Amino acid sequence: MRVVRKGAGKGEVTSIPSWESVLRAEGEERERLIKELVRGMSVRQKVNQMAGRMRAWEMLVSLIRYNFRPFRAGEDRRLGIPPLRFTDGPRGVALNRSTCFPVSMARGATWDVDLEERVAEAMAVEARSQGADFFGGVCVNLLRHPGWGRAQETFGEDPFLLGEMGAAMVRGAQKHLMACVKHFACNSIEESRFYVDVRVDERTLREVYLPHFRRCVEEGAAAVMSAYNRVNGEYCAHNSHLLRDILKGEWGFRGLVMSDFLLGTRDTVKAALGGLDVEMPHAVFFGRRLVRAVRRGAVPESLVDDAVTRILRQKARFARAGTGDYGPHRVACREHADLALEAARKGIVLLKNEGGLLPLEPGKIGKLAVIGKLADLPNIGDRGSSRVRPPYVVTVLQGLRDLAGPNTEVIYRDGSDPFEAAEAARSADACIAVVGLTGRDEGEAMPGPVKLGGDREDLSLRMRDIVLLETISMANPRCAVVLEGGSAIITSGWRERIPAVLMAWYPGMEGGRAVAEVIFGLVNPSGKLPLTFPEGNEQLPPFDKKARSVEYGYYHGYRLLDRKGMRPAFPFGFGLSYTTYEYRSLRLSAEEIPADGSLTVEAEVSNTGRRAGEEVVQLYVGYPASAVDRPVKELKGFLRVPLEPGESRRVTFTLRAEDLAYYDDRAGRWVVERTDYDVYVGASSALEDLPLRGSFRVT
Ligand code: BGC
Repeated sequence: MRVVRKGAGKGEVTSIPSWESVLRAEGEERERLIKELVRGMSVRQKVNQMAGRMRAWEMLVSLIRYNFRPFRAGEDRRLGIPPLRFTDGPRGVALNRSTCFPVSMARGATWDVDLEERVAEAMAVEARSQGADFFGGVCVNLLRHPGWGRAQETFGEDPFLLGEMGAAMVRGAQKHLMACVKHFACNSIEESRFYVDVRVDERTLREVYLPHFRRCVEEGAAAVMSAYNRVNGEYCAHNSHLLRDILKGEWGFRGLVMSDFLLGTRDTVKAALGGLDVEMPHAVFFGRRLVRAVRRGAVPESLVDDAVTRILRQKARFARAGTGDYGPHRVACREHADLALEAARKGIVLLKNEGGLLPLEPGKIGKLAVIGKLADLPNIGDRGSSRVRPPYVVTVLQGLRDLAGPNTEVIYRDGSDPFEAAEAARSADACIAVVGLTGRDEGEAMPGPVKLGGDREDLSLRMRDIVLLETISMANPRCAVVLEGGSAIITSGWRERIPAVLMAWYPGMEGGRAVAEVIFGLVNPSGKLPLTFPEGNEQLPPFDKKARSVEYGYYHGYRLLDRKGMRPAFPFGFGLSYTTYEYRSLRLSAEEIPADGSLTVEAEVSNTGRRAGEEVVQLYVGYPASAVDRPVKELKGFLRVPLEPGESRRVTFTLRAEDLAYYDDRAGRWVVERTDYDVYVGASSALEDLPLRGSFRVT
């Protein structure tokens, strides 16, 4: 069916395809109809597609309850085109009372792409069930420095891990709605995000800061959100090198680019020319100003047409996505809570376990002392745009009480009086201290009278927590520490005295239960760090949270430490288990491959202990003979492998030579070097954890 409408011109009648006919068509035919529809739209109608729209009262309510309902963009009642309905993530859906999953960093620690896909699907179902069809939960910014306030929203420091986890989210979410990947690009300082200019050379940009975005685009992401900051002098929403040359050009992205909110767009013409398609959450620079810019010829109408084509293409693609079983019964349902619990269990990292203090056997613990304010606090992350308000939160104290059993008395002290806490520890058979960070210490920087969120310049615990740990561990050496937070915490200075340390992150609404299950041995810990835990600041790149301009060099994280020959406190990829694993018999399918070829890497991993467990097997590649400066090694594969006691499994990775290329910035292209490559397989990025070594040649 066609809609006949009066054209913009004098009495001229144009016939344009109806939105229904666009939805009914598929493939090339749909593309053709969209083009025709766009051709028939007035400039005003087109520009209307390109911005959010908020009424004054919605803005006011938003100040009190952010994202109280989906942000809408581009509704056209006359043409029957529905709006985009945006809601935020990534630890769940920001609307109403949704399931709060562990934060992305905790899920990064699971290294479990299948789980991440299921988690994202659950979030998407909850978003759909509450009237949204556009999900802003795929945050894949690379963590350059662990002090970044929003570290909790991303999956860690490594482009490969970020790419695989981000792609899993895109896959899962897009079974039901449009996913938006953010913040493109180089957004990893919070407090200066609105103005900082990130200076980065082309090679670093391509190899370190963009591969994970590309991976998500290749997975078919419907949208990309531009970052607030500038890259090489230009705001990301105006940055035609990022948006037009790389994203839409080289990567062939067919989706839409939306701005980050409020200060994410600064100029009508620059944004339109630069490649921004949708201004959010309200038309300030687009809307009327864009109509005028088109009319006076400052913005070619063809660019507006391209933007609208992208928007309509994605709206049509997802108009009928999903199973249709949406509704309040799917929001924060038991099934999703169980998934949140699974993610929390798999993301907890056992950093230290001297003398096998953990797990505690409830039968042997008559009295357990639980100490620290955080033990009794629902601590699920910051209060920024990613905030989720779940129906309940199981705290660590609650989890321990629920699982302790009838013969274990659990006593609790909040630690505000260290001596009283020490008394409690002394009187107990073991003690669990919960310390770390909250949304006050780190997170999206929120304006207001009390400082909330922002970056951390000092990665240590608070002095009063260090004193508390010292006091109670002297009173009772059988003391385990549970750390909460969204990023690295410096443990030097106190970890020597503490036999067992668990990193629990912000573990979501079921987190306390998961922590208790690990402590009592019902769950064998299997998380691995998605970022390096440094000994101190000297192991990190420079970080100035107020800088107007910063240089992002080629090295950070484990790549930087490998280069400097330094040992961190806990390396990237590291995590202990209650069982032991052994690696054996590395086999490469070829000694030589062509530059467009690939090979498989096989290794055997066995559970040599007495408990079932899951090991994350990691594959790194090194470039010993490269003609250019390259990292000692880089993650190029990983797999989570469940193993019963005594069980062995062969793990196979495929390595494509093209994935080992470096970016030659003078020539402006990727180069696969014809040279030798080293292969490392094992349990973390530390050389001593990589027992299997081999090499091959690209010819
Ligand atoms: C954040 C984005 C978020 C947006 C909408 C911004 O302040 O930077 O991550 O998606 O708000 O809530």
